[in-house]
Amino acid sequence: MAAPIVNAEYVKEINKARGDLRSIISSKNCAPIMLRLAWHDAGTYDAQSKTGGPNGSIRNEEEYTHGANTGLKIALELCEGVKAKHPKITYADLYQLAGVVAVEVTGGPEISFQPGRKDSNVCPREGRLPDAKKDFQHLRDVFYRMGLSDKDIVALSGGHTLGRAHPERSGFDGPWTQEPLKFDNSYFVELLKGESEGLLKLPSDKTLLEDPEFRRYVELYAKDEDAFFRDYAESHKKLSELGFNPN
Ligand code: HEM
Repeated sequence: MAAPIVNAEYVKEINKARGDLRSIISSKNCAPIMLRLAWHDAGTYDAQSKTGGPNGSIRNEEEYTHGANTGLKIALELCEGVKAKHPKITYADLYQLAGVVAVEVTGGPEISFQPGRKDSNVCPREGRLPDAKKDFQHLRDVFYRMGLSDKDIVALSGGHTLGRAHPERSGFDGPWTQEPLKFDNSYFVELLKGESEGLLKLPSDKTLLEDPEFRRYVELYAKDEDAFFRDYAESHKKLSELGFNPN
């Protein structure tokens, strides 16, 4: 599909959609699932074949029915309402905008958003997103495939400051932090504290403590929220632009 023409009119629509997303996300408390949608559309990127990535392909049944995407239909439908009001905006841009707004509305850092992503109907094969039961080597395999770094892996894992796992979706249960609708560095604080009644730690979270390079960032972000916000904003922007060359 062709890239949208990013002229003044397109930017105006983006700004209106941003406002719509802000009110939907704050009134429905759906920041976590909107962030997860943005991440799952983008996180299929393969830097070698230049396939997958933030291209809106997750809106197709073939992809949203992948096991890792269970539950994301809710977020797709919420975005569909915004798309109906602003049909010029590509799905690819809309989902990434929703991710950026989700972080902002819950008190996280501002993430710069560049519009112009193309939509695609080509769905990646199932299995490109990380498996929560695996360890740091698997995280490296998956995120390096996207072209992301160790720092990106830890900073982006901090996205689990929002939301919770649902037994009927992933088989896991519970939030990572005491305030799952607040974007802050508490994911890292809790991770270092160890097991806490009622809070979740996935094997893929705990493994960040096992590798010295990853652990260094966990410790930094737990004690320095500004450093987390700075790195998170940078890594999130990279994730949201995988395979996309804004001009
Ligand atoms: C939820 C795995 C990275 C954002 C979840 C869930 C799992 C998971 C199993 C629970 C889903 C459910 O039951 O509803 C992983 C693994 C990752 C990873 C293995 C590898 C590092 C990320 C990243 C972000 C992110 C990079 C965003 C930057 C979220 C959010 C939720 C979530 C916001 C909560 C969704 C909700 O409340 O509905 N993740 N995730 N995750 N993930 Fe991740």
